Amino acid sequence: MKLKIANKSNINTKVSVPGDKSISHRSLMLAGIASGQSRVSGLLEGEDCFSTLKCMEKLGVDITRDNSGTYIVNGVGLNGLKEPADILDCGNSGTTMRLLSGLLAGRPFYSVLTGDRSLNSRPMDRIITPLSKMGAEIWSRQQGLAPLSIRGGNLASINYNSPVASAQVKSSILLAGLSTKGITYVNEPAQSRDHTEKMLKAAGVDIEINDNTIKLNSSGQPELKPLDINIPGDISSAAFIIAAGLITENSRILIKDVGINQTRTGVLDALKMMGAELTIKNKRVSSGEPLADIEACSSNLKAIEISGSLVPRLIDEIPLLALLATQADGDTIIKDAAELRVKETDRIKAISSELKKLGAEIEEYPNGMKIKGNTELKGGIEVDSFGDHRIGMTMAISGLIARNGIIVNNSESIDISFPDFEKLINNL
Ligand code: S3P
Repeated sequence: MKLKIANKSNINTKVSVPGDKSISHRSLMLAGIASGQSRVSGLLEGEDCFSTLKCMEKLGVDITRDNSGTYIVNGVGLNGLKEPADILDCGNSGTTMRLLSGLLAGRPFYSVLTGDRSLNSRPMDRIITPLSKMGAEIWSRQQGLAPLSIRGGNLASINYNSPVASAQVKSSILLAGLSTKGITYVNEPAQSRDHTEKMLKAAGVDIEINDNTIKLNSSGQPELKPLDINIPGDISSAAFIIAAGLITENSRILIKDVGINQTRTGVLDALKMMGAELTIKNKRVSSGEPLADIEACSSNLKAIEISGSLVPRLIDEIPLLALLATQADGDTIIKDAAELRVKETDRIKAISSELKKLGAEIEEYPNGMKIKGNTELKGGIEVDSFGDHRIGMTMAISGLIARNGIIVNNSESIDISFPDFEKLINNL
């Protein structure tokens, strides 16, 4: 599919964005292993979350959607999951594959997980290593690539120092930890998103967080309580709309009900450092997660450095920040972000190549980029998403200011996390 985006200015509107992707995945998994019926509203109805939903169904969990769009999950309890009769297809979703692997590592049956070409080329050794140390039997292709086969059961708890600040790795180990009879520790080099910890706590699991160490005590573990979850809008999706408000002329956009968990708000911190005119209104808490309305107005941006512990708090927004950096005053430096090279695409390479087609000046580093600011973007050309939803959306936003707009090829990938993106942008 091709997505055509025209120049825009004078945007003055109020919008909502779809549910948080990370929380949606976890809601389906934890509700599935809770004992009893959970209700999940605001679920992201995008391809990635449907992959998790279908996998949970194959594991014996009954999930229905009522007329109001609420998902009813009839949890079977951790011990109630059954051996899937077929391969579990995780599609494009790293969260599905890595978190499910943790869950299945502790189940006494055999399962096979696969994904699309992108997912089957992403590193899985980062979960295979700790889960194998806990006692799971896991087979993969060479260099730890999926498809994975797992024969789970009889896990021992672990004290694991994760070499990467990754919520997927941390969550995978914590979910495996539920099947042990001891205390599992995960230490991260920097704090990554903590939705799993919050939701496990809400389900009654004994879990403590001290700086970057998570302690999960599953000795004498009670059953997980069912949950009533109201999922906030995804800040990673809201970021594209915020960017539209910041870089188009004479604009003001209010985005309602956005999750502002502090492990995810690195993008707001970075934008404020860049001088963005952002207002956070109506802060509140729902289902244990903080949310707010965010207003973004046309702004004069300045260059900043993004590095260190800020990076895991805005990892998914870096391609978009690279676009904004082309409009900022000065040179923006992004460091410590080598993880971007193992996302749905190599996002450093992908965003550099596509923004350069518009005239941006970007120097690639192994772990980041240097982006020259004050650059007028030329448009009227075709760019590619490379099958990566966030690259596709970033390039679409560039079309709002690139001379003569832009055409984004392979734009169907946007459905992974933001199904109504095209409609929303065209209505701005
Ligand atoms: C996610 C964690 C992050 C993020 C991804 C979603 C999650 O990945 O990039 O989009 O839901 O746990 P890593 O854990 O690989 O950093």
